[in-house]
Amino acid sequence: MDTQLDTLVHTPTKSLPGNSYTDPNIFNIERRFLFRSLPVLAIPACYFDKKRNYTVVDIAHESVIVAKNKEDEYQAMANTCRHRGKRLLDKKNINSNERINLKSIVCPYHAWKYNLNGELVIARGDESSLLKGLCLKKLTVEEAGGLTFYHGKSRQIPQLKELNRVLGNFQLQNGKLNATKTYTVNANWKLWTENFLECWHCAPNHPELCEVKGFINQFEEGREDLYIHDDLNWRKQSELQGWTPPEEVDFLSEGGLFYFNVAMPLGKDKETATQSGKQIGPSLGNLNGMKGGAIFGCFGPFLFYVAYVDYIVLFTIRPKTVDETEVEVFWVTHKDYNGTKDELTWLWDTTLQQDIVLVEETQKGVQSLYYTPGPFQADEYRTQAFTGWWKQWYQQNKS
Ligand code: FES
Ligand SMILES: [Fe+2]
Repeated sequence: MDTQLDTLVHTPTKSLPGNSYTDPNIFNIERRFLFRSLPVLAIPACYFDKKRNYTVVDIAHESVIVAKNKEDEYQAMANTCRHRGKRLLDKKNINSNERINLKSIVCPYHAWKYNLNGELVIARGDESSLLKGLCLKKLTVEEAGGLTFYHGKSRQIPQLKELNRVLGNFQLQNGKLNATKTYTVNANWKLWTENFLECWHCAPNHPELCEVKGFINQFEEGREDLYIHDDLNWRKQSELQGWTPPEEVDFLSEGGLFYFNVAMPLGKDKETATQSGKQIGPSLGNLNGMKGGAIFGCFGPFLFYVAYVDYIVLFTIRPKTVDETEVEVFWVTHKDYNGTKDELTWLWDTTLQQDIVLVEETQKGVQSLYYTPGPFQADEYRTQAFTGWWKQWYQQNKS
C-alpha cells in the first residue's frame, strides 16, 4: 500500500494512487488522525432560533450533537451515551417546520438524562454514576463568518477568522437558512474535494453553470480579454456602491488546513446566479455593490462556498466510508427572501447532480487495475495543491 504512495512523493505533478481512494485502512487513518482535527461546519448560525436549538452531524462513524444551551452558549458533544454507548439523537429534517428544540437529552435505551451541557443529570438505577460527574465527550465549537463549526482540537483554530474577513459583511448570522439538501455520493471524499477545486471540467459538463457564469466559456474560448473587461467593470460598479471584494487568497496552506477565496464577475449583465439572471431576494448584508459578481472559496477540505448578492451556497463534505460521501448543502438568503426554493436551488442542484455522476464514475475508474495516476493540467493547480497537502499529511501520519 505504502509503495504506491511513496512512489508519488517523487512524481508530485500526478494525481493520487488508486488505493488512497479505495483502501479502508487509509480511510481509517484519516478518520482517526485527520477528520477529528478539522473544523466541520455544523450549520449556519441563523439556524438556531426559538424552534431549533440543536443539530446532529455524522462523519465517518462519528456523530456529534451541536446545541445551544439555556444560556445561549454553543455546546458540541459526542452523540454517544456514557452508559452503554447508544446513539442519543437522530438528525431531523431541518426543512420541515417541526420543532427541533430540546430541554434535555434522554437516552432512548435506559433513560439516562443529560442537560444541554452534556452533563449527566439523571442516572436511572445507578445514582453513583452522577457522583462520577459523567459527561458526554465534549468538542470545541467556534462561530466564524456567521457559521457554526466544531472540531476535536482543544484550542481555537485561528485560521477560522479568515471567514470573518471574507464572509463577515454578508451578515449570515442575520440571514435565513432557506433550503438544505443532502446528496449521497458513492465515491471517496477526496474525489469530491478534487472536483470542487477545479472548474476545468465545467465547460464540457455544466451547461447551466456556463450559461449563468459567462467567464467559464470566455476562458474556454481563450477570450481572457472579455473577462478582464467584465471584471474591471464589475469592480468599478461595486466600488461606486461602496463595496470592495475581499482580498483574494488562492490556496494557502497553514496549520494543517488550506483555504482560498476568489471574486469574479458573472458577466452578460447577470445580477446573480439564477435562471433569469435577476436578483430573487434582498441583498445579503445590504451589499448591493456585490450585484453581478460571485465569491468562491473553500475552508478546507470540508467546506466550499459560493456567494452572490442575494444568496450563498455552503457545500459541506461529510465522509461516510472509504467509498461513500455525503454532501450536505445549505442555501442562506436574506431573512426577507420570499422567492421559491426551486428558484434558489436550481443552479447548484442541477450542477451537483452532474458532478455526482462525474465523481462516482471516477471512483469506478480509480478502482480499476488499469488506473495509474495521471498528469495535472495547469487549470487544476488547486487540485494538485490539495493532493500535495494530503500526501504530506499522510506521510506524517501513516505509521
Ligand atoms: S445506553 Fe444510554 S442509558 Fe443505557
Ligand atoms: Fe463540477
